[in-house]
Amino acid sequence: MKFTILTLFPDIVRAYFEASIMKRAVAGGLIDYSLVNIRDYATDKHRKCDDEVFGGGAGMLMKPEPLDRALEAAGSPSVRTIFVTPSGRLFNQAMAQELSQEENLVILCGRYEGVDQRIIDTRVTDEVSIGDYVLSSGEIAAMVLVDAIYRLRPGVISGESLEEESFSKGLLEYPQYTRPALYDTIKVPDVVLSGNHAQIARWRLKASIAKTLAYRPELLTLDNLPVEASGLLREVIDGGGWNEPGTVHRGRTDQE
Ligand code: ADE
Repeated sequence: MKFTILTLFPDIVRAYFEASIMKRAVAGGLIDYSLVNIRDYATDKHRKCDDEVFGGGAGMLMKPEPLDRALEAAGSPSVRTIFVTPSGRLFNQAMAQELSQEENLVILCGRYEGVDQRIIDTRVTDEVSIGDYVLSSGEIAAMVLVDAIYRLRPGVISGESLEEESFSKGLLEYPQYTRPALYDTIKVPDVVLSGNHAQIARWRLKASIAKTLAYRPELLTLDNLPVEASGLLREVIDGGGWNEPGTVHRGRTDQE
């Protein structure tokens, strides 16, 4: 799969592609990428890429001409082309799954107040937001998309890890522990050490439900609750959710 990132600041993005698991995926030929500096497509003496907003308003907009040429060269809009913007559709795991099926993705990073709407209308196939907050530019949002997408490609990380993590089953992930079994005064819950796989699976599902109920209750729908879970949900509610000892290690809460 190839990512083409259009940005005014390729250096912000470059380090991401040159480290850790992404570096290995690129070296192994699983992922390819190209960083396009939009300024290289500006033809005037000052290589100007921004201008004032017609009709007034604060800040500057990215001008259409350099963007249009850069996107044309990247194959947009025949290639799936995402503009990362706080006014896009909200990114989620299902969207990451869907986009991971593409062989080529172009991602356009905005700076300033945004880009001229004619570019969005003619070259962009998807407008995507990573959350209900405003970043100072699109590069970090683009990296969030790339990171969530590329790890779903075959061979990048193990299928088992993907299976178990939050959102792949629609619930938040259960707490996990490693050695030592007793750290300071805090002990790993007995059931986790019991070696009884059926009981561990039950405890994990219950802990996932408790955590989802506490942090993200809107995720608990009849669609994503396994049949055996409705009884556990009742147990969690009757037992006060978080407060049940050994179900979930309690961190800071909003009340504290
Ligand atoms: N650019 C600035 N803020 C953003 C956001 N929340 N999502 C995507 N791109 C952005």
